Amino acid sequence: MNQLPDIPKHIAIIMDGNGRWAKMHGLPRAQGHRAGAESVREAIDACKELGVEYLTLYAFSSENWNRPEAEVAGLMLLLEKFLTSKLDDLMKQNVRLHAIGQLDRLPASTLAILNDVIDKTNNNSSLTLTLALSYGSREEITSATKRIAEKIKDGLLQPDQITNEIVSQHLYTAEMPDPDLLIRTSGEMRVSNFLLWQISYAEIVIFDKFWPEFRQGDVFAAVAEYQKRHRRYGGV
Ligand code: IPE
Ligand code: IPE
Ligand code: MG
Repeated sequence: MNQLPDIPKHIAIIMDGNGRWAKMHGLPRAQGHRAGAESVREAIDACKELGVEYLTLYAFSSENWNRPEAEVAGLMLLLEKFLTSKLDDLMKQNVRLHAIGQLDRLPASTLAILNDVIDKTNNNSSLTLTLALSYGSREEITSATKRIAEKIKDGLLQPDQITNEIVSQHLYTAEMPDPDLLIRTSGEMRVSNFLLWQISYAEIVIFDKFWPEFRQGDVFAAVAEYQKRHRRYGGV
């Protein structure tokens, strides 16, 4: 697939539909999340094969904290297991792990494993895999605004120096390019507080299938669809 022209540099995915997939199979929601972890591997492998540089996965939103305590705890445990079991592959695949969101809200054990994998993969240089965890775009923009205001208060910045670039630099995503392609599964036509600033000109591809059904071929299909789009950025 590498020879295909115009591969998106950054793909972001809203991994939705684990619960509905489980329900369809008469299983508890937790099984849906477990099955969804397999699809994460598929998405990473597909991005590696295509030469995508950034893959950002919406794994847990700020709003997801409002789910039943047992589901939240199960998701955190699953994340810990995923990270522990995936470290070897990430090293072999030269994938660097990164995370965005209010990470200090994560349980201490989850945060420790997350930081460990981030540290160990820090020098990997092919794909940057970013997990959005306890992530909300409005919180991100609000916290950026606060930090910019602090700088102005401290005399480090003047109000007329605030540009789009300055705002971008204060977001969690400061060091990465904006997503070119946004994928969402399970048919929902909404962005659910994900990367609101950064997806301004992303091409959107929605799959009706649930996240646990998502496979490498779906990434290839989304990229093929992306390559057919004409990105105009407001021009003609
Ligand atoms: C996505 O699947 C996973 C998370 C949001 C953590 P859901 O759990 O939202 O599944 P549905 O949307 O209820 O089917
Ligand atoms: C978005 O899915 C969050 C993640 C995929 C982590 P949700 O299932 O939480 O979104 P809504 O509730 O359908 O908007
Ligand atoms: Mg959902």
